[in-house]
Amino acid sequence: MSRVYTNNNEFKRQNADLKTNLPYTEELSVLSEKLTVGSTVFPNRLACQAMEGCDSTADGSPGELTARRYGRFAKGGAGTIWFEATAVMEEGRANPRQLYINESNLDDFKRQVEEIKSTGLKQNGYAPIVIMQATHSGRYSKPHGSPRPLIAYNNPIFEKDAPIPKEAIVSDEYLDRVKEALINAAALAERAGFDGVDIKCCHRYLNSELLSAYNRKGRYGGSLENRTRLLRESIAGASEVCGQDFIVTSRLNVYDGFKYPYGFGVSDNGSLEFDPKEPEWLIKELYGLGVRLLNITMGNPYFNPHVNRPFAAGPYTPPEEPLSGVARVLFGTERLKKAVPGMKLICSALTYLGTAAPNVAAAFIKNGGFDIAGFGRTAFAYPDFASDIINKGGMSAGKICIACSKCTEIMRAGGTPGCVIRDSGVYMPIYKNLCGGKKQ
Ligand SMILES: Cc1cc2nc3c(=O)[nH]c(=O)nc-3n(C[C@H](O)[C@H](O)[C@H](O)COP(=O)(O)O)c2cc1C
Repeated sequence: MSRVYTNNNEFKRQNADLKTNLPYTEELSVLSEKLTVGSTVFPNRLACQAMEGCDSTADGSPGELTARRYGRFAKGGAGTIWFEATAVMEEGRANPRQLYINESNLDDFKRQVEEIKSTGLKQNGYAPIVIMQATHSGRYSKPHGSPRPLIAYNNPIFEKDAPIPKEAIVSDEYLDRVKEALINAAALAERAGFDGVDIKCCHRYLNSELLSAYNRKGRYGGSLENRTRLLRESIAGASEVCGQDFIVTSRLNVYDGFKYPYGFGVSDNGSLEFDPKEPEWLIKELYGLGVRLLNITMGNPYFNPHVNRPFAAGPYTPPEEPLSGVARVLFGTERLKKAVPGMKLICSALTYLGTAAPNVAAAFIKNGGFDIAGFGRTAFAYPDFASDIINKGGMSAGKICIACSKCTEIMRAGGTPGCVIRDSGVYMPIYKNLCGGKKQ
């Protein structure tokens, strides 16, 4: 079994042994630097990635645990808080407690954003930039707790010998309505006080699944233009209805990790190799639409979580060293940054690096590999990671996420995920109750 690095020499040794060649520096000051994107100034280069807590109230408003989570993130000093997956249509909720923004609960979202901003300001002297992730869960929709998939196309890798009935394939007219809902959610997010909206296009939810709809007929399938239509047109529409200073962005899967014709950003030679050609085209198109910031990610958390979030313990033994998975995401992001240098990029999948994460992130940022370091599971386990990096010169081995996958286990069991190890007072009882301490 592998282990998250608690000692940076251990990381350096394995980085050399595996020839992953991740850059590393002891000089972390770049992580404290501000970043200007359009008219927005990001207070530093550290971000809490989107981390869903499945803890809304029944109407989709932020609940008690939601407020607790964002209070911890806001206090923690990250300059960016990428506010978790928030549904834009009731039937596209991933679970009955997924946040769902709409006209009737807008004030609750407003209060939540105000609370984040004021907490950050009071604690750290700056308010974080908060970006709302707008989503339709597509294949993974479970609005009432049981699967109600709405898919772009049938995928034998996922469905195996139980294909989802054709009626679940959404029509072009339905996708037009999703586009309107995403644009409407962007306008709602702006009214709620968010600094920006993420038209979510990752992890094989609906928008992301369309990117590989090579064999789908109609306006949303086949050509690259068609497969990226929902994303491009939603972004263009959101930019039109929102103010100039409001950030319109996307969390984008640039590599799915499934063979052609079932994966985006994958070579068409039958291998699982990353092919940046189409992602590069898409990023250039988005730049042309005025987008100046993207949040880059890879993989599918349901089918190849080792690609999405390299882990030390999880549902299966990964087919590669977790460090190689981290390297794929970080070097993949760097490759795209070099292709479109004007686009500011946030990276993903740093958590497995443990105490070496800030050193690797700082080296990438210095080399022009990306602009902001995004931390996912770390935000659950160690919400004040940014404050420790900025004020104490690094992360503490006793506080890091150990990448044990227990947060995901809770989520898959229909509960409210959080860190079972480092926030055990709240989440250990939830874990024991739902997962019974069973082995993954
Ligand atoms: C419990 C849990 C919830 C997540 N929720 C979201 C989400 O709402 N939106 C999203 O884009 N990614 C989500 N992710 C993925 C993370 O943002 C991140 O990409 C992943 O954990 C890899 O980064 P890390 O290595 O820093 O953890 C979630 C991951 C976990 C484990």
